[in-house]
Amino acid sequence: MANQRVSVHGMWSSRAVFIMATVGSAVGLGNIWKFPYITGEYGGGAFVIVYLLCIALIGIPIMMAEVLLGRRGRSSPINTMKRLAREQGSSPAWSIVGYSGVVAGFLILSFYSVVAGWALAYIFQAASGGLNDVSATDAKALFEGLIGSPDQLMIWHSLFMIMTMAVVARGVRDGLERAINILMPALFVMLLIMVGYAFVEGDIKRGLGFMFNIDFSKVFQICVEEAGQVQCRFTGEPLLVAMGQAFFTLSLGMGAIMAYGAYVPNHASITGATVTIAAADTVVALLAGIAIFPIVFASGLEPAAGPGLIFQTLPIAFGNMVGGQWFGTVFFILLVFAAWSSAISISEPAVAWLVESRKWARAHAAMVIGVFAWLLGIGSVLSFNLWAGEEYRWFGKTLFDLKDYLASNIMLPLGGLLIALFVAYGAGRQMALEELSISRQRLFDAWWVIIRYISPIGIALVFLNSVGLL
Ligand code: PFF
Repeated sequence: MANQRVSVHGMWSSRAVFIMATVGSAVGLGNIWKFPYITGEYGGGAFVIVYLLCIALIGIPIMMAEVLLGRRGRSSPINTMKRLAREQGSSPAWSIVGYSGVVAGFLILSFYSVVAGWALAYIFQAASGGLNDVSATDAKALFEGLIGSPDQLMIWHSLFMIMTMAVVARGVRDGLERAINILMPALFVMLLIMVGYAFVEGDIKRGLGFMFNIDFSKVFQICVEEAGQVQCRFTGEPLLVAMGQAFFTLSLGMGAIMAYGAYVPNHASITGATVTIAAADTVVALLAGIAIFPIVFASGLEPAAGPGLIFQTLPIAFGNMVGGQWFGTVFFILLVFAAWSSAISISEPAVAWLVESRKWARAHAAMVIGVFAWLLGIGSVLSFNLWAGEEYRWFGKTLFDLKDYLASNIMLPLGGLLIALFVAYGAGRQMALEELSISRQRLFDAWWVIIRYISPIGIALVFLNSVGLL
């Protein structure tokens, strides 16, 4: 029996619109900014393979679970979990999935908005010719000048937060839907052009070698160069970070996809949509890496340069290619749009919940969420300048890194684990069968085995390994 509920927040007009919006959520800074820089930090090829395995074996099955729960519950993740747990005779404590998603959303938005602010700043840099003819040293100095200035960062962070909340206030459908349809394909084309540039001007052999040469020893160790000597230590951290990145890049584990699933039409097939979304997301991340690493090596830069990696490499390409002023401007505009459509989805679980339970208008809810995330974001701004010192670090990490680490590597996978467990054990097979309505029994059985055993055990093993228990 298909369910008869409708969402009070409106519905996607078609399955295609759902796919577009979810690709908009998934493709963002995670693909273009974060994937290359953490791949650089964790040594390349082996990290990429683990990441791809996590997408296939954990990400896609859990995305299906989130969408099916969302569509079945047709409300904000907190209320969907409450409702479904009640209907299935399970404990109301499952709603913790929804609450922890709201908290993770705040943490993510509070650093996401700051990085999106960098991209905003670079639109103006590129347009005004500020990137013309830059060398690797100039590009580094430019980036350091930007992050060293709390005032500038605050302006861009504030602007991005206002842009995001302005759209959230109007509702997801009327908000960005039309824009995403054009801008996402445009971003894809720009990335292809950058890849073309990397092939011609970059050190393509070393770049590709770095991304795809698999040295599995690197999955369990981190190596750093100190005083000319390479020091390695064994740790489960690269595995945890690769898994965290799979969750982050697919927007999983915090209810964003569950919230979008609540607006999916009844008869739309979930499986095909999910695979399409994950494939698009993965292709964009790999293209970003292929565009960046050849430039990194050709310019004598460090792959492990950290969060500034793309802001220190892409300007070199724009600064030295024909028409680079124009390309650079367009590229950063598209990057901002990609970040924008993701940021909107990050706040959706919290906003939808406030609208449902407090009966607030969307605009009111968006404003309250925006102000909190903005305040929390001040800590991310200061992490690069006034609070960059040792005395403001916890576990050796700045507030910016700590929020990212906690949300992406711990809260999202834990959220995903609970979602898998709820679908498999809290709700049961019948509900999943009805919602997924997969015609090929074998396919359903395979997914069921994965969601019951493989994904939860996989996540648990990575956690145990990272705390040194394995
Ligand atoms: N998937 C987005 C990206 O890769 O940039 C980030 C994100 C969006 C994370 C939505 C979590 C989320 F709920």
